[in-house]
Amino acid sequence: MAATRRLSHTVAVITINHPPVNALSASVRHALVKEFGEASKDPSVKAIVLSGANGKFSAGADIREFSTSALKTISLEDINATIEASRKPVVAAIEGIALGGGFELALACHYRVANAQSRVGLPEVLIGILPAAGGTQRLPRLIGVPAALDVIVQGRHVPATEALQLGILDDVVQGNVVNAAIQLARNVIGRDLAKRRLSTNHVPSNPHMDSFFDTAVDRVKKQYRGARAPIACIEAIRASVQKPYHSGLEKEKQLFASLWASGQPQAQQYAFFSERSVGKWTHPSGGRWDTVAPKPVRTAAVIGLGTMGRGIATSLARANIPVIALEQDAQQLEVGKKTVNGLLEREADKLIKQGLVPDTKLASVRFTLDFAELRDVDFVIEAVYENMALKKEIFHKLSSVCKSDAFLCTNTSGLDIDEIASVTKHPDLVIGTHFFSPANIMRLLEVVRGRHTSLTTIATAMNLGKTLGKVAVLVGNCPLFVGNRLLGPYLEQASYLLEEGCYPEDVDKTLEDFGFAMGPFRMMDLAGLDVGWRSRMEKGLAGNKVPLGTPARQRQGNRYSPLADMLCEMGRFGQKAGKGWYQYEKAGGRFAQPDPWVKDFLQKYRSTHQIKQQPTTPELILEHCLYGLINEGFRVLEDGIASGAEDIDVIYNNGYGWPKYRGGPMYYASTVGLSKVLDVLDGYHKQNPDVPSMKPAFLLKKLVAVGEPPIKEWRTQVGSFVHKL
Ligand code: COA
Repeated sequence: MAATRRLSHTVAVITINHPPVNALSASVRHALVKEFGEASKDPSVKAIVLSGANGKFSAGADIREFSTSALKTISLEDINATIEASRKPVVAAIEGIALGGGFELALACHYRVANAQSRVGLPEVLIGILPAAGGTQRLPRLIGVPAALDVIVQGRHVPATEALQLGILDDVVQGNVVNAAIQLARNVIGRDLAKRRLSTNHVPSNPHMDSFFDTAVDRVKKQYRGARAPIACIEAIRASVQKPYHSGLEKEKQLFASLWASGQPQAQQYAFFSERSVGKWTHPSGGRWDTVAPKPVRTAAVIGLGTMGRGIATSLARANIPVIALEQDAQQLEVGKKTVNGLLEREADKLIKQGLVPDTKLASVRFTLDFAELRDVDFVIEAVYENMALKKEIFHKLSSVCKSDAFLCTNTSGLDIDEIASVTKHPDLVIGTHFFSPANIMRLLEVVRGRHTSLTTIATAMNLGKTLGKVAVLVGNCPLFVGNRLLGPYLEQASYLLEEGCYPEDVDKTLEDFGFAMGPFRMMDLAGLDVGWRSRMEKGLAGNKVPLGTPARQRQGNRYSPLADMLCEMGRFGQKAGKGWYQYEKAGGRFAQPDPWVKDFLQKYRSTHQIKQQPTTPELILEHCLYGLINEGFRVLEDGIASGAEDIDVIYNNGYGWPKYRGGPMYYASTVGLSKVLDVLDGYHKQNPDVPSMKPAFLLKKLVAVGEPPIKEWRTQVGSFVHKL
């Protein structure tokens, strides 16, 4: 049964029951209409309580229904209108979550009571749409425009205590919320409900409302570059001020239809489901990590208190896992201790403000210089700098100090997990955990399995990722793993574009207009150009082994752009040096300005090497940079390094600033058309045979040959290619 009804004295309790999250699918809507109709007619029923089974009120509309005709059968807004018009008082008993349509349903009720751990919100904007069952019209009528705008445009989950302060809830209780709702329902039997019907109320307004909305639109245009849903949300709320309720509802519907036609909701909903399916990777032995029980992580240790280590220690403590943080240098330990404690204090303040303390605890962090203190920990994350010899030395030590079943993880952005594991007694317990900086904020976690990593180790690391609130994606072990590996051709193409006539700001602007949080040159300046330079020197690509400033076209072998190396030779390391691809107001400054020096440098470089300036267009810049990246994505799939296109997309959406409303690079390729991507790559590679990264991948060719199947079927085409598990 999608919804059930029972009688508690004179109160009918209707319970939505549709696991796992009580999404309001067509069957639930039908059941609600039936149960509500019968309760309304029943003369023994004097009031109605609406609740959800299994600790959740409702997660809202069933997202899977959006692209089907099921959505058209019985609209949620019609149900809301019936509830609101009821002459018997209706109380929403909110447990766990009331999100999206679930919250809109609660807003149609005359009263709302929730338990202290619950959250309410309208997160539709995060899946590319807007609340379209009256949410944008009722919420401003309840809490005013500024608060409603904040909740709807950010799509944030509002904790119960804050919701009570905002006036969303009538009461927050510690115990059984349904019993509290029944009690409230009994108390209000016979009261006048007119003021409780939000659709009949006015939205508080003032003469400056229009400019308030205009400013909000400008702000979200900058913040969410190119995303349409936040703007649609603002326009719908604007309508709630300017128009009567029913015209506002019409506006909601029109905005929903135009968003749907833009293609952005489909991309964001693909991203939503991809996040939930990532990493479900069948092991060559036939086993699956996600069917294996993870081991509990009761205590953890972090080795190295640089930027990464501090962020990781903070994440663990925030997830209530006691941490031992180890440094080898006493001074660095003190600095790390101060920073971690500061970060944790800020976290605690946040929780207090949200009313979540003392329910949500922060675990303690103990700081030490002594490896012997790690003897009992369950899970160790090494986060020292990227140096194989140092990492091996540490793993060798850990292997003898830690208990024999401790999991040993390395936070590396590309070193060989198997080589690190080779110095331990139990390589099956070794795994890579590639956090992204700052680790206490960034959601992405690449979990890297080595040749010997056991399924239990994978399950434990993936589960820990979830506990830390990360999106954990399981990837294979290859140089640079998935995210950074795809970045190679992208940055390479960006550099070739400079050789051929572009300037950093042209390339960055095009990619930022596309929706990236940051173009490649601003990103390199932020990360520090010296990081890549040192690694290229170690590989013999940059520095003495390649004569400074010699373009590879004049050398044997593959094309190589020395521009970044030349900048480094001149100390232009990016933001930290106050100059790189851009100039900054000071060393460590953040405001990138185009630098006439760079322009001059590039012009001289082109004339020295007689490189003819090529005409460029934004389209060409996008094709070169993005198709190179996408092509590498197909190779990663061929190699079995990522188990599906969805995994690559989740990595790019959550770790590399790819605009979610474009779904991720592989999804984007499917919307452009794989044959177009193939044609462009093919044409480029024929003209530039010395750029191997642009040689079309076999899998891409195969997918075009079999008629470009939908993205979820790409996995089945990979089969025969997978050779590197
Ligand atoms: N419609 C359809 N399926 C949904 C759903 C929805 N609104 N919300 C969640 N699900 C599914 C998930 O896809 C997942 O399915 P799976 O087990 O087959 O992978 C399952 O419910 C559990 O969701 P998950 O996100 O893994 O659980 P969680 O406990 O971490 O988070 C929520 C629960 C509700 C907070 C989260 O799923 C969420 O934010 N859902 C979307 C809410 C929303 O946007 N509502 C507005 C819809 S218009």
